[in-house]
This record gives sequence, C-alpha cells and structure tokens, in this order.
Amino acid sequence: MSDSEQQLRQQEGANYEPEMNRSGNTPMAQVIETRLSRRSVLQSLVGATAASFMGVGLAGCGSDDDSGSDESNSHADAPRIGFNAIATSRADTVTLPEGYQWAPLIPWGTPITGSYPDYRSDGSNSGEEALQQIGSNHDGMHYFPLNGSSEHGLLVVNHEYIDHNVLHANPATSLPLPQDHVLKEMASHGVSVVEVQRSAAGGSHWEVVRGAYNRRITALTEMEMTGPVRGNDKLKTAYSPDGTRTRGTINNCSHGFTPWGTYLTCEENFRGYFHNTSQNVAAQPREQSRYGIANADDAGSWYNWDKIDSHLPRGMSERFDVSPSGDGANADYRNECNNFGWIVEIDPFDPYSTPKKRTALGRFAHEGIVFAQPKVGEPVVFYSGDDARFEYIYKFVSKALYREGISGDEVMNEGTLYAAKFNGDGNGEWLPLDINDPGFQAKASAANVRFSNQGDVLINARTAADVAGATPMDRPEWGAVCPRTGMVYFTLTNNTRREDSQTDAPNPRANNSTGHIIRWSEGEGTGFSWDIFLLGGHKGEGKVLPNTAQQAALDDSNLLSCPDGLWFDDSGLMWIQTDMSGSMLAGSNAAGDFGNNQMLAAEPDTGIIKRFLTGPNNCEVSGVVMTPDRRTMFVNLQHPGGDSEPGAFTSHFPANDGFSRPRSTTVVITRKDGGLIGS
Ligand code: FEO
Ligand code: CA
Ligand code: CA
Repeated sequence: MSDSEQQLRQQEGANYEPEMNRSGNTPMAQVIETRLSRRSVLQSLVGATAASFMGVGLAGCGSDDDSGSDESNSHADAPRIGFNAIATSRADTVTLPEGYQWAPLIPWGTPITGSYPDYRSDGSNSGEEALQQIGSNHDGMHYFPLNGSSEHGLLVVNHEYIDHNVLHANPATSLPLPQDHVLKEMASHGVSVVEVQRSAAGGSHWEVVRGAYNRRITALTEMEMTGPVRGNDKLKTAYSPDGTRTRGTINNCSHGFTPWGTYLTCEENFRGYFHNTSQNVAAQPREQSRYGIANADDAGSWYNWDKIDSHLPRGMSERFDVSPSGDGANADYRNECNNFGWIVEIDPFDPYSTPKKRTALGRFAHEGIVFAQPKVGEPVVFYSGDDARFEYIYKFVSKALYREGISGDEVMNEGTLYAAKFNGDGNGEWLPLDINDPGFQAKASAANVRFSNQGDVLINARTAADVAGATPMDRPEWGAVCPRTGMVYFTLTNNTRREDSQTDAPNPRANNSTGHIIRWSEGEGTGFSWDIFLLGGHKGEGKVLPNTAQQAALDDSNLLSCPDGLWFDDSGLMWIQTDMSGSMLAGSNAAGDFGNNQMLAAEPDTGIIKRFLTGPNNCEVSGVVMTPDRRTMFVNLQHPGGDSEPGAFTSHFPANDGFSRPRSTTVVITRKDGGLIGS
C-alpha cells in the first residue's frame, strides 16, 4: 500500500475499498433514460412459496394481519409500513419511531465461551481473552431459533475488521508488532455463534446463555477447502501441501444462510491482509494483482500481521507474506491468499464442525450471499456481489436439485457460476464462467487469457468475468430476494470514480457518491429483466424509480445515501441500511442532510420508504434479522466512533457517559405493545 493509500485507509477504516477493476471492460457508453415498464413482468411473477426456513414461515408474505396466522395471508395483500418516519439525527444513540424501544446485546468484548473473561473497558484484554469474547465490527447476522422459538435461539454474527485505536489499550505505532497485538486482532475477526434468550428484565432486553453452542470462529480456525478448487496447485502451502485446508476467515462482511439451516460467512476485503514482499505488481501472479494484494512497492498490508516480533506457531503469521520465498509452493505461503475470498459454510448447531470454504461460488470480495426461494426438484440459486468499484454481480446455480434435507456438500460443491451483464434495454444475461462452455472458451481465446482448469477460473473469477464481458457496477453490496415476487434487489453503494463517459443504464450517474438499488426478475434460460428501484441522494436529487406507484423524489421522511445492508422480512417489507463511511464521501454526505447512518423500511410495490432508525455517531448500520414471530428485531451498529484517536472517541455507544470506549453492538428492537415490527 502506498503512503497515500495508507493514509486513506486510516481515515476511512475498513470501508476504504480503493481497489477497482482496471481490466478495461468497457461499460455501456449510452445512457438510456427510458426504462421499459415491467409491471407486467412483476404481475406475472410466481408468488412466494410456502417453504419454511428454520421455522420461518415465508407464507407470511403479504399479510398485514397482526395475528401471524397463515390462513389470513394473501399474496395480493402487499405489506404496509405501520410506523411514522423519524427525522434524520446526529445524536450519539439509537433513535426509533414512537412506540418502539431498544436495548444493547453482545457488544464487542462480551465473554461467551471458555473461561468467560470479563471485558475490560480500557482495551487491555489479551489476545487469548479475545478468543473467548464477542469479536469486533459486527456486520451481517442470522437468528437460528432453538425449537422454533422466537425467544431463544442462536445468533450468528460476522465480525468484519478491527479499529486499532479502539481495540488496543496501547495501539502499536511501529513495526514489528508485538505478538499479542497480532493475536488479538486475529481473534477479533471472524464469526460469533452465541446462544441468546429473552431476559426476565422485559422490554428489549435479551441475554447471553453460557451454553455449549457458543463458539468463536476467527482468523486462526482450521477450515476445509471444498468444491472444484480443492487440491488445486494454487491452494498448496507449507501448511497444506495437498491444498485441502487452511486457517481462518477474515473481513467477514454481510452474511448469508442456507435453506438447510447453516450459516454463510463472506470474505470481503481479504486483499488488505496480505503482502507480497518480493514481487512488484508486474511480477505478481494475477491471483494477487487482479485482487489488489499489496506488493513489493507497498509498505505493507493493512494490519501487518506478517511483521511481528515473534512469529505465531505453524506459520500462522508468516502466511500473510505471500512472496515466493521457499523451494516451491509447499515450502512457503505464496498461495495463502488464494485460500481467501470465498463463501464459508458454518454449521452453528455443531460447535465442533470444521467450517467449509465453498469454492464453486468463486473467489472475489464477497460482500454477502442470498438464495432464491428454492423449489423441490429445481437447482438452488445463490447471488453474491463483489464490492469494489466496477466489479460484478454473480449467480451460482447448483447441479443438485433441491429437496428437503439436502446438504451444503450436495448443493454448494458443484454447479455453474455466472456473472451479470445488464443490457441498456432493461434486459440482461447471465454469462457462464465455465471452462467447458464454448462461448466462454471463445472469449478467453480472443482475449488471449488462459485458464488451466475450472479451479483456475474460480480462483480468478474476476478475470473470468472480465473475459466474459460482465457489466462493471457501482460497488455491489447486499442482495435480497423479495419473498412475495421473487425479484432480486441489490444495493450499489457508491462509486465516486465513475466518469461521465463510463455511465450506463444500470449505473447511470457519474461520481456516484450516494448510490442506488437495482433489481431484476429472472427470465427464460439465462435471461433476466431489470430496472433501478432507487437512486440515493440529497433532497430533490434522490428518487424512487420507476415502476412503483410512488415515482417520487426522496423527502425528509426517507432521504438516504449509500445503501448497503438490504433485507426482506417475511411480510415482504424491505429494510435498507446505509453506510456513508469514507473520507472521499465526506463532502457530499457528512456535511449534507443525511445525518448519521440509518435504516429505513420500503414497500417494494408502492415505493413508499420511511426512516425507522438512526444510529450513533460514525457508526455504520449493517446487519438485520427478526425472530420468526417478527416481534423482535436484531440490528448491528458497526464501528461507532470509527477508528477514533485514543482518548478522543467521537462516540461512546452503547454508553452515553462521555468517556467510554465505543463498542460495535447488536441492538434488540421491540414494540412497546409487543406487536409486529414495521407493521
Ligand atoms: Fe464490508 Fe462492502 O462492506
Ligand atoms: Ca457492507
Ligand atoms: Ca459499505
């Protein structure tokens, strides 16, 4: 990383995503402003299936009946927002509509396992203690009910990254780093599995159960490589000479879950953790250079885990230097970064299970992953976005056909990975990234790009999508599938590097600092039809578009910028979370009318959107799920205060005492009358 990149990284925290696709894929040049009406498409879409996921009745779609009874549901009855919008806010707290209440749950550092070491408010917990506590920077999460309960279940939470000045009592200011400094940072990444239950204290109070399910998965946890890349030469390391195993998961952003009851964690900005200390960018293999792995011209990686005063055992810290230093790949860690950038499947109900990296879904900066409602006898479909400027949206279609009781090994190890091409006429095409596909072969040959096998294609999914001709997007973040219509929505959070000449129909704005939301419905074969649902922006600039009843400019009740988190509840309301982090956006966002980051609810059919929550200072609102009865909502508030200077925290959340160290936190939200959230 250059000095200027390092400075930006420090200013922007882990939301600094400077890597951009420089492959030269030509975005569509013409802006097509007239969108085809796809109301007919919307109306013809198949309604929600009655499939039940982990006790979550999707048949609840469209019901605005407070009873929760399936009999009352009608797909004709679209969900309606039942709360009054709140104003934007710059208060260092959580603000909710009238009639709602909140309480914090599992802030960073909460002891959940082992000897349950107490959180120390001066940041002095050791690395060993951090391995037994809730991690840092909560992002996506899912609630897995125990015995179908809406008052007792497993909360599984991603921990994206760390803020030096918040995590450490005395953040290191020079290299090499003290060993425990590195261990604590590795331990604060990954995933927490934690048993939670409603507390006798009432209100929104829930509590941790100190039970056997609780588990920390970190940057050190043993993992298995599965799917087409398992055993590939480009996975082989001194630790795993046969390319079947690795340690840890990092930069765990957004999340996913599966119809068969497992959790999916997503490795987003893995590139920031590695440093090739001996090769410059021209000498780096494309598995590194196309992903922006730091090279010999850079001072180091984001966290410099390889630059340590005393190495951790078994190459645990050496492996973050991915330069070829030994006599072949089995003698060093030149390939270690190829073991990252994957979707990782975790069984939250088996604390001894080995997480499995699912290579069939491709290697890129996976923001999150979401599945289309599965139908018995048909392939299972997942969507995932690659969050960097001008990167792509991907789709995985399993070879196996869905049935009750199917497993991840059956579904996620074999199938076809596609990248999205959005045409200017409102249609689109899924482009197979398949070495056996004649069309893909022809494009690769024409581009003079060689892939040695399908594993090579999947490790280099970005290059494969370049070759295929996918559409470069404005930073794809979360996806969500409407349970009523099956339409797929994706946030495109921003792209301040898009120039006038690069605008196109799906990414229509140059210097897109406020982002937008695109959506599509699947068509015949590999076709789909799409439109833009929303353009973020200031008052008079942001809009809901185009085929909704609303067709209106955003106003005081819903103006927003940088949509990031996206999630449908079972009634069919869509929840939008914002992340305006990043110094390059500060001029347009922080000084504007948006207030602190926020969460809003949207009626997809009408385009009515209302602000539901505003978060504390400098937080990002990222992660939302409800209990099956929709009476308890969990929301993650990530990095309140950002990476403040020591002793100068700009937030003290969840405390409001004016001095406490800020802590990323899940908050529990309920209605004071116990009713359905959002309705
Ligand atoms: Fe980690 Fe792209 O958000
Ligand atoms: Ca995000
Ligand atoms: Ca973001």
